[in-house]
Amino acid sequence: MPSKKNIKPTFQSVKGMHDILPQEQPYWDKVRKAAKDIADYYNFSRIDTPIVERAELFERTSGESSEVVERQMFVFKDKDDNRLALRPEGTAPVARAYVQNGLSRLPHPLKLFYLFPMFRYEQPQAGRARQHHQIGFEIIGDNSDPVYDAQTILVAYRLAEELKIPKLSIQINSIGCKNCRPIFKKKLLDYYKNQEPCKDCKRRLTVNPMRVLDCKNEVCQPIKQGAPTTIDSLCGYCNNHFKSVLEYLEELKLPYSLNNSLVRGLDYYSRTVFEIVAEGVDVSLGGGGRYDYLVEQLGGRPTAANGFGMGVERLILAMQKAGVQLNPKVKPKVFFIQIGALAKKKSLPLIEGLRKLNIEVLESLGKESLKPQLRLADKETAKLALIFGQKEAFEESIIIRDLQTGAQETVQLKKLVEEIKKRI
Ligand code: HAM
Repeated sequence: MPSKKNIKPTFQSVKGMHDILPQEQPYWDKVRKAAKDIADYYNFSRIDTPIVERAELFERTSGESSEVVERQMFVFKDKDDNRLALRPEGTAPVARAYVQNGLSRLPHPLKLFYLFPMFRYEQPQAGRARQHHQIGFEIIGDNSDPVYDAQTILVAYRLAEELKIPKLSIQINSIGCKNCRPIFKKKLLDYYKNQEPCKDCKRRLTVNPMRVLDCKNEVCQPIKQGAPTTIDSLCGYCNNHFKSVLEYLEELKLPYSLNNSLVRGLDYYSRTVFEIVAEGVDVSLGGGGRYDYLVEQLGGRPTAANGFGMGVERLILAMQKAGVQLNPKVKPKVFFIQIGALAKKKSLPLIEGLRKLNIEVLESLGKESLKPQLRLADKETAKLALIFGQKEAFEESIIIRDLQTGAQETVQLKKLVEEIKKRI
């Protein structure tokens, strides 16, 4: 056999797309369970949408000039010449499904949640992959009531808190509505006329000026500091709306800070936008906001909505960074050992009988002799081994061996369950 060092895999997974190995699954189980528990508690129903959508769905809603659409979408043509995209985000597909399936007939607000993979053609680095998974929560049909902005933020915060991620905080901003945003954009353009920003920002100013506030380039930092803020340009309605959201957060005693440069990367947002961050983790764990025009844009009636998405991989990264311990409840297991042809033949039905009675059985039926099977039983940290040899198969009996003390006893097969239960 070649040594491990000499093995050269014929294929590697696609760049930026990762396997989730058995040893990582307990984290995933924990995150999935926390998301499901929170969804149940706050009354969100699960929705799933296809991985592939028309590329135009994202181009129109996230915006042609957004990073996601401009640089990160996996786009391809099917055999009927349709331009399709691997889903880069979940909000537009959920809004599409809401309109297409007439979900407006259901009682409102309609609360939906999902957990599925997303695809973005990014430069892979810590917390940034080409396939990632998001937990999304969306509240649709809420009359723009600020109480729901606060509830969305609360749910996002609780989810991270439930996973024991320490030092969480909320970054929040309001980017106004269709009435006040054009006024802000004009102010911003006027201000930047007299500045010398980076090359990217020069381009942003022509395609999507709001994004200059998001620029990370050093040249732009002092410029950004003097730039007008969205908050100063809010109309009366948006201003009161934002104040109300903050009052709710204060009532909840959630730690938030205003972030003038938070504009989010997707075009469908209006008014409240937020991100959840954890100290010591460079990337944000989740983000979201209000998107009151999206459903209408997709052919539905004007319908206010808001929500958030959290990256599962980033949540796990933050848990691991913080040394969060998982305490999986290990069900005591028994290890089944067989020796000889007759015993092997009778093994499968015997194990099936135990499974029906909810006794979890480990085995290594492909092995022949006692020693390697016992060694595996030890490795798996089973409490008991059941040893079924030729003699036992004839006599309808089996040996129960306590793997900690080494004590063993032969019992009749018909009494096996009773005897196992006595010992575990
Ligand atoms: P987003 O901020 O683009 O928002 O993504 C949400 C979260 O997904 C991020 O905060 C991050 O945790 C995770 N994420 C995004 N890209 C990557 C990546 N390349 N690798 C790993 N994790 C990533 C949205 O997608 C909106 N649809 C959220 C939303 C829902 N807004 C309203 N409802």
